[in-house]
Amino acid sequence: MKNDMITVDELQGMLRLDTANTTYVMEISNGLYLGHLYYGARLPSGDLSFRSAFNTPMSEETRKKEFVIYMDGMDFEYPGWGMGDSREGAIKVKDAGGVTRTNLLYRGYRISMSKALVPGLPATFGDAPGEGEVPTLEVDLEDPDTGLFVTLFYSAFWEEDVIARRVEVKNKGSQDLVLERVLSAAMDMPAKDRQGRDFELLTYCGTWAREFTRDVRPIGLGKTGVSSIIGKTNNRMQPFLGLMSPGTTQETGEIYGWNFLYSGNFASFVEKNSFGGIRVSVGIHPEEFSWTLEPGQVFYSPEVVMTYSDSGLGQMSRNFHDLYRNHLIRGAWKDRKRPILINNWEATYFDFDTDKLLAIAKTAKECGIEMLVMDDGWFGKRNDPDSSLGDWWVNEEKLQGGLTRLGSELEAMGMKFGIWFEPEMVSPDSELYRAHPDWAIAVPGREPSRSRNQLVLDVSREDVRDYIFTSMCKVLHSAKIAYVKWDMNRHLTDVYSALLPSERQGEMMHRYVLGVYDLQERLLKEFPELLLENCSSGGARFDPGMLYFSPQIWTSDDTDAYERIRIQEGAAALYPLSSLGAHVSICPNHVTGRNVPFMTRGHVALAGTFGYELDITQLSDEEKGMIRQQTALFHKFNDLVRNGDYYRMASFQETGFYDCYGVVSRDKSEMLLTFIHVMNQPCKPNRWICISGLDPEKKYRVEEVGMEKEESPDADGKAPVVCETYGAMLQNAGLIVPCRYGDFQSVLYHITEVREDS
Ligand code: GLA
Repeated sequence: MKNDMITVDELQGMLRLDTANTTYVMEISNGLYLGHLYYGARLPSGDLSFRSAFNTPMSEETRKKEFVIYMDGMDFEYPGWGMGDSREGAIKVKDAGGVTRTNLLYRGYRISMSKALVPGLPATFGDAPGEGEVPTLEVDLEDPDTGLFVTLFYSAFWEEDVIARRVEVKNKGSQDLVLERVLSAAMDMPAKDRQGRDFELLTYCGTWAREFTRDVRPIGLGKTGVSSIIGKTNNRMQPFLGLMSPGTTQETGEIYGWNFLYSGNFASFVEKNSFGGIRVSVGIHPEEFSWTLEPGQVFYSPEVVMTYSDSGLGQMSRNFHDLYRNHLIRGAWKDRKRPILINNWEATYFDFDTDKLLAIAKTAKECGIEMLVMDDGWFGKRNDPDSSLGDWWVNEEKLQGGLTRLGSELEAMGMKFGIWFEPEMVSPDSELYRAHPDWAIAVPGREPSRSRNQLVLDVSREDVRDYIFTSMCKVLHSAKIAYVKWDMNRHLTDVYSALLPSERQGEMMHRYVLGVYDLQERLLKEFPELLLENCSSGGARFDPGMLYFSPQIWTSDDTDAYERIRIQEGAAALYPLSSLGAHVSICPNHVTGRNVPFMTRGHVALAGTFGYELDITQLSDEEKGMIRQQTALFHKFNDLVRNGDYYRMASFQETGFYDCYGVVSRDKSEMLLTFIHVMNQPCKPNRWICISGLDPEKKYRVEEVGMEKEESPDADGKAPVVCETYGAMLQNAGLIVPCRYGDFQSVLYHITEVREDS
C-alpha cells in the first residue's frame, strides 16, 4: 500500500488512481462532464492533458451549437441518458413527468483511506469488512434538473492491481425518481491494444455439467456480452468480461478483466462504436429492473472489480485470486484448511438411512476422510424430488434417532457432520406450501411454472426469510453441524411479489438477491464457525458475490475428472483453487459414463477443496488404499494449494492431449506441479513442459510424488528424484514428462528449493 495511490491534479482536472502495475485516470471536461482518460500499464507521474478524453476539441461556442456531436464523441466514465450520446448509458432515471433524460455533471471529489461496507451487499475490504486501509476516491455527479445525485466509488488494491468500483444514487430532489438502470461501472476505452490489434472478448460460458467453458470472440460493431435474467447468476455465463489482445497466452498479451460481485441478473457487455472505441458496461441487468427512489433515499449498486495485466491471462487470474482470498472471503474458514468430506449424493441419492450413512462414515474415517455430508432427502417425506422442500424437519422413518443420534455417532467416530438445504425452495407437495401458498413466487391468477417440480419462495419478504432462518436454526442447533451445503436448483420465473405495489414490481429480482444475502448473513452471524458451501445445480451460482458468504462453491455436478480438467481450468482462471468444490466420484461417472483411473480423479480434485462423492463401502481394498494416499497428499499439499500462486503451463483445450498447472508458494521455495496425460497419442511422445512461476536463481529438486499405481511412492516423500537444477533451467529448458500408457494418466511433481547450505 502506498499513500499516493490517489492523486488529483485540479488544474488539469485529472483524477488518478495507481496500483503497483496499473494506472487509471479520469478527466473533468470544462468543469462539466467526467471522462475516462486512461486505464492500463502504470504510468509515470506527470501531465496527461495532451491526451484528452474529449475527442472533439471545441470552442465554447461550437460546443453549444454542436452539443450532440460533443457528447457522442466523448470518452465517458459513467454516461447518462438522452443527451446525444448514441451509445448505451450507465444510468437512466425517470422523473415524475416521465422524462428519462439523465444529465450527470461533475460536482467534486473526496479521498479517504478506508472502504465502507455496502449496506446489504457483498463488497471487498481491507483487513476485514469495514476495517483496514484501502485508498478510496469518491466522485460526485449530479443531474441538476432532477436532484439525482450519483457518487462513484473507486477503491485501489495496490498489490493485487485491482480497482473496485460501485455507485451510490441519492434522490436529493423533492419528487420520486424511478431508476430504470443503474450499472455499477462503465468506461470508454480504445478498441485496440498497444500494438494496434483489435481486442477480443473473453468470457466463460456453458450450461449444467459444462460450466466455465472459455469463449473468445472477435468484437464487431455494436453490442455483445454476457448476461443473466433468471434471477441468479447462471451456469450459462459467468458475470465476467475480459478484453484481450489476440493471441494472449498465460504469460503474454494485454488483458483487462471485470468481475461482478453479485448473484442475480446481470449484464456485462461491450459496445464498439464507429470511431475506434469500446464502451465497457457492467451492472444489474436493466431488463426486469426498476427502483423507486423517494426523496432522501439512497440506492446502492453492487461492486465491480477490475484488473489489468500486460503479462497475460495468468497474471489476471493471480490478481483476482489474491483479491478474493485476501479481501473478499471472510469468516472462520477464510484461511483454514477445510475438512475432507464425503457427500452421500452420488452414493445413495434419496435412498439412505442412518445405518447406511454411518457405514459410509465409518469406512471413510478409516481412509482419512474427516466429514460426512448428508445431501438431499433427509427431511419431510422426501424420497424423490417431488416433495417436502420447505419442510425442514427430520424424516425419522429414514433417519432413525434423528439428527441427534446421527450427529453423536459421527462425533464419537471423530467425524464432522454436514447437511444439505435448499432454503429458497418450496415443493407444492409440502406442509409449508399447504400452509402458505402465497409465499411461493407466482403471478396472481396464473399457474406458476414448475422446475424439478418445485417453486421458489419469495425471499424478498421478511416473513418468508424469518421462517427459513428459524427452521434452519432449529435443525442446526439440534446437532453438532459443521457445514451446510446451500443449494438452489431452478430459475426464477413468474416474477411477482405479493407485498410490492404494481409500480414497484420491477424491484422484485434485486430484492430477492438482497433477501438471499440477508439470510446467509444471519446464518453466519448465528453460527460463526459454520463452513458454508454454496451450490446451484452445480456451478450456477458461482460468482464473487457468493464468495463473501461461502469460502467455497460447488463447481459443477459433473465430477468426471476428464470434464473437470476443463471446468476447473475455466473456474481457476477467475477464482482461487481454495474456492473450487472438487470431489472424487465413482466410475463409470454418473454424468458422462466415462472411466478415469482412481488416482487421476484424486489428482484433479486436489486442485480444489477436495472430498469424495461415492459409496465408499462398495470400493475394493485397492481403491480404499488409494483414498488413504490421496487424503495424505491433501494434508501434505493443501496449504500450498490454498495459499499459493497458480500458474498454468499447458491447457488440454489447446494441446488436445495433455494438461499441466502448478501452484507455487509465495516465497517460491516450493511448487506442486500436476501433469495429466489426458489422451494417449500414437508414438507416445514425451511432453516438454517449461515451468513458470519459479525463481530463476533458486536451485530446485524435482520429485515425482504421484503415480497411477498402488505401489507408487507415498505422500511421505520417498519419491524418485527427477532432477536437481535451477529455476531458470526449468523455465527455459523445461522438464520432460515421460509418456504413460493409456488415457487419463496423471503425475504430481513436488518441486522444492535446495538451499546451498543444506
Ligand atoms: C443439485 C446439486 C447436487 C445435489 C442435488 C440434490 O443438483 O448440485 O450436488 O445436491 O441438487 O438434489
